[in-house]
Amino acid sequence: MSFNIAIDGPAGAGKSTIAKRAAKELSFIYVDTGAMYRAIALGLLRRGTDIEDEAALSAALDETEVGIRYVDGEQHVYLNGEDVSSLIRTEKVSDMTSRSSAIPVVRAKLTDLQRDLARREDVLMDGRDIGTTILPDADLKIYLTASVETRAKRRYLEQVQKGETCSLEEIEKDICERDYRDSHRETAPLRQAEDAVRMDSSDMTIEEVVAEILRLVKERRAQTSCIFGEHREADGSQDFLS
Ligand code: DC
Repeated sequence: MSFNIAIDGPAGAGKSTIAKRAAKELSFIYVDTGAMYRAIALGLLRRGTDIEDEAALSAALDETEVGIRYVDGEQHVYLNGEDVSSLIRTEKVSDMTSRSSAIPVVRAKLTDLQRDLARREDVLMDGRDIGTTILPDADLKIYLTASVETRAKRRYLEQVQKGETCSLEEIEKDICERDYRDSHRETAPLRQAEDAVRMDSSDMTIEEVVAEILRLVKERRAQTSCIFGEHREADGSQDFLS
């Protein structure tokens, strides 16, 4: 049986960097579900689909196929067979992703793919609704967050490093808007699962967060093998009785 870790949280909390590193340490597959939603959004932008028009959206989705493949341990995302991994990180795509991912038919398109991966492999899956909706029985759930100021500063530095001009204020406003949309939508809103461990990365380094996740995995694995031990004993006694 596969071991599944769900990491949810708002944009800019460091989920993907942290999840990637932890997955590598654990030899798990890292599944970036945001990239899948981004690929769909890119397809909708390319077609110029009006996402408010149900029939047009449904026709576009019927002709949209999203897939992922691992190349040298890195997740690549494909839109109708084309590797779009390097085209999905623009502001325009981010905005369309946040709007289109709120629509139930868009989410339904990816649910099976994500669940199927988790069934087959040890995965560390990051997103917004992994612990609450996609993998409610995940072995470990983390809700990773950070203050809006910290997240905006991180994004700002990222952009500056890429040589892009941007304003910290604009980024902060953008993050607040996206947080609001992601957590107030009707279908699968961003929220902490009741059984998730909450981690605030505002005052933690990436290494500290990764180390804490690895510690939690070790702890859960020990608990799981304990439970399996008890089950085996119970099964054994049942066998004996029958
Ligand atoms: O994690 P990210 O920034 O790449 O996510 C992009 C958008 O996709 C974000 O607005 C939230 C949405 N998303 C979602 O609704 N459900 C997921 N499981 C992952 C991402």
